[in-house]
Amino acid sequence: MSAGILSSRLAFAFLLLATLCALLTPVESVKHGNFKTCDQSGFCKRNRAYADTASHLAHNWESPYKLDSSSITFHNGQLSAVVLKKIATSGEEVRLPLTVTFLESGTARVTLDEEKRQKGEIELRHDSQARKERYNEAEKWAIVGGLDVSMGAAVSADAPEGTTKVVYGPGGKFEAVITHAPLSLEFKRDGTSHIKFNERGLLNLEHWRPKIEKEKKEGEEAATEEADKDAGEDESTWWEESFGGNTDSKPRGPESVALDISFPGYEHVYGIPEHAGSLSLKETRGGEGAHSEPYRLYNADVFEYEMDSPMTLYGAIPFMQAHRKDSTVGVFWLNGAETWIDVVKSKSAANALSLGVAGHTDTQTHWFSESGLLDVFVFLGPEPKDVIKSYSELTGFTQLPQQFAIAYHQCRWNYVTDEDVMDVDRKFDKHDIPYDVIWLDIEYTHEKKYFTWDPLTFPKPKEMHAQLDQHDRKLVAIIDPHIKNTADYPIIDELKGKDLVAKTKEGKQYEGWCWPGSSYWVDCFNPAAITWWKSLFKYDKFVGSFPNTFIWNDMNEPSVFNGPETTMPKDNMHYGNWEHRDVHNINGLTFHNATYEAMLERKSGEVRRPFVLTRSFFSGSQRLGPMWTGDNQAKWDHLAASIPMVLNQNIAGYPFAGADVGGFFGNPEKDLLTRWYQAGIWYPFFRGHAHIDTRRREPFLVGSPYKELITQALRLRYALMPAWYTAFHEASVTGAPIVRPNYYVHPGDEKGFAVDDQLYFGSTGLLAKPVTTAGAESVDIYIADDETYFDYFDYTTYSGKGMHTIKAPLEKMPLLMQGGHIIPRRDRPRRSSGLMKFDPFTLVVVLDRAGSAEGSLYLDDGETFDYQQGAYIHRRFLFDTTTNALTSVDIATSGSKTAAYLKAIAKVRVEKVIFVGAPDAWADKTEVYVSEEGAKESQRRKKAGIAFHKGENGKTNYAIVRDPKVGIGKGWKIDLS
Ligand code: NOJ
Repeated sequence: MSAGILSSRLAFAFLLLATLCALLTPVESVKHGNFKTCDQSGFCKRNRAYADTASHLAHNWESPYKLDSSSITFHNGQLSAVVLKKIATSGEEVRLPLTVTFLESGTARVTLDEEKRQKGEIELRHDSQARKERYNEAEKWAIVGGLDVSMGAAVSADAPEGTTKVVYGPGGKFEAVITHAPLSLEFKRDGTSHIKFNERGLLNLEHWRPKIEKEKKEGEEAATEEADKDAGEDESTWWEESFGGNTDSKPRGPESVALDISFPGYEHVYGIPEHAGSLSLKETRGGEGAHSEPYRLYNADVFEYEMDSPMTLYGAIPFMQAHRKDSTVGVFWLNGAETWIDVVKSKSAANALSLGVAGHTDTQTHWFSESGLLDVFVFLGPEPKDVIKSYSELTGFTQLPQQFAIAYHQCRWNYVTDEDVMDVDRKFDKHDIPYDVIWLDIEYTHEKKYFTWDPLTFPKPKEMHAQLDQHDRKLVAIIDPHIKNTADYPIIDELKGKDLVAKTKEGKQYEGWCWPGSSYWVDCFNPAAITWWKSLFKYDKFVGSFPNTFIWNDMNEPSVFNGPETTMPKDNMHYGNWEHRDVHNINGLTFHNATYEAMLERKSGEVRRPFVLTRSFFSGSQRLGPMWTGDNQAKWDHLAASIPMVLNQNIAGYPFAGADVGGFFGNPEKDLLTRWYQAGIWYPFFRGHAHIDTRRREPFLVGSPYKELITQALRLRYALMPAWYTAFHEASVTGAPIVRPNYYVHPGDEKGFAVDDQLYFGSTGLLAKPVTTAGAESVDIYIADDETYFDYFDYTTYSGKGMHTIKAPLEKMPLLMQGGHIIPRRDRPRRSSGLMKFDPFTLVVVLDRAGSAEGSLYLDDGETFDYQQGAYIHRRFLFDTTTNALTSVDIATSGSKTAAYLKAIAKVRVEKVIFVGAPDAWADKTEVYVSEEGAKESQRRKKAGIAFHKGENGKTNYAIVRDPKVGIGKGWKIDLS
């Protein structure tokens, strides 16, 4: 071995060791130096400088973009035109094709591209293979529907000179007004302006240009750079950019796209996950409590991430909503490159002279991406649910998961042997604690080679899976995108041999460092890579996997220990000759997608819904499986931050979200762990997980009273499984959040717009306020409406808008029921959710002030795709004061497999109905009449007992009907008149 090779190996070994040490030793907070600030990111700095120049020049600033009026055409719901960008220094004009497409859903889409150059017209550096056009395939990964154009959209004849107006949307209530010079777009609903593009003149599409080597005489460097800056253009990072010892060659030079998007009259903006901070986004350029950096979207493995920060995290959803009293609008910035977003709010004071004119706040945002098209979707609401639905129609709905997927998952890095797994499984049973899934982190593999089992520690995968299966439990195994570069590993030979690897800028197979040491990354942008990846999951290929094995995809940002900002160099190349720069934020989705596809095809004829967890994500990932918030810490502030983070995912079209319960790094105190479980039962994805250096903390280990309290919390999650499954079904057809922030449920309640530490669960009216501080004995919960709320456990009554203090010692989970809902439950304690399949139901009827209530239940086999052929029930329950009867009616259940499913659940019945807030008039009732559809004549009107309980000491009355003997899949009526 030559000295050179030896020293480079030593250097790598050292690097790996250093990285591992960094990863294994918890430090206090993130290493800021590892990640760029805006100032260290060339295009971010340039666009902020552009905004500063515009604001300094104020009225003297004119955006150099204008629409060539003579180029406008309008055809089949789409306006096309050419925008001309005037280059100040040369007077030259760059032609930018613009389209504004009006979709049937009422969404408008604006794209701005650069006219294609002829080959050779633009010089690429380094003999780069990079494509000579702007990346235009983000749509291919993110969008799956909702693109039908509106035939009703029409150009209006009454637009003022120099403008074009298109009337569109439901009932023709939306308008897009395009001002030609300088170019701006305004979107109106009912005649009022809601969204403005380029109002501040910050539209900036850095056109492609040839590189001109400027000859600098000695000593002139500084002066020239300053002169460039004065002219508004800092060219220093146009053609090359270095950070942390890595140099990014930029073969196409500067090519960012930027736009200011204003929301007049809107004080709150939400969305653009993933960040650890408040739901209502903060200002980023001055203002009280503002961040100093823009919100960044550049998927990265951020070690020990910090709280209340606009720093990037593992995933990116460039979808933002603006909200004001009774109006919600939104934008979706479809771009897969590094993106930053500045948020500025400007308040205008109330006008003292014109009485009654209140002051208002406008939110102005400024978006910039490093490359790609300018491609923005505009949603005009008017309600949060409309905006989220329109976005979800485009990017896809959460796939209805298997039932086990929404039960409790037990993970740690690592369960060290198959015996260990089986032992943990037995202990859950011994201690009567329910769980559905146990997880294996990277150590199960043979020397970090995915698709293998360590022969010493996991010699019996079959026995292990079989034991889990006895209680319908599953195993999730981790498979990451880095493939170990080693001998005797057929998978690396296939990957390299078939050339399905991500490439360097020179087109060589890219090698970097991750858990296994030297590794190669599968390039899942490549259809052939997906085909190959699918083949690896067949049972005869991934030997030791079984139908109850499911998958976890981690490190797919991708995380590269020796790469810039712990990821791949931007000038790396992917399939189709696109630079990594163009697609970075989509990378995680492509890997998740390949695994999802693979899980669909493990064996022909096996048609179970896949379950694949991902860490990195983009718009559209919600179609493929859950995400989690990565490596949090066992600290109270991380527990608190998980609530707005999970809520933000939920309103951003990706509701299947959760945080590591207990905190990944560090050892939680027992009360923190208990509170975390009490909060975690409200995460749609509910998993306990812990770092390899932490002490064991399975719920059965924590001792009394913590074990009992955690079990209680888990049992509540399991009892509410029917409601969870119903909420997931709703999300899968409408995009509705599964857990919901106050503004979503009460869009007219201004006081609640910034509330992000409590949540509503689906459409059940359950309002939870997790305790996230040490030693709390009570919490304040915010009630936004005049409805009556009842404590879930003891029926204490709360009413009146505003804050209410609720006792919350460690044994109490603050949880209220809003009057007016019917909540389906299954109360029998079981070991896993699979064992509850044929259990009877309890219905909790929570009467509202008028004495009515309504709810729903969706149920299917929880495993297969048979529901697509009607193998499900979807019931609506109604209690009406006028008839004094509770009824169950069908909500459009039909399909070829309906009858067979109804037969399968024919014996599943309602065993109990609890009426919360029962009127005093029921005090003497001892029986009710029950009738069921299709019952025999003699059974048409049977009786069931009812017991009334008078409420005392602030608690409401309740009444229980026991065993009304009605089928859950049938129509029936329980008559209390
Ligand atoms: C990083 C993940 O975020 C963490 O959950 C996992 O335990 C480690 N990788 C090891 O695979």
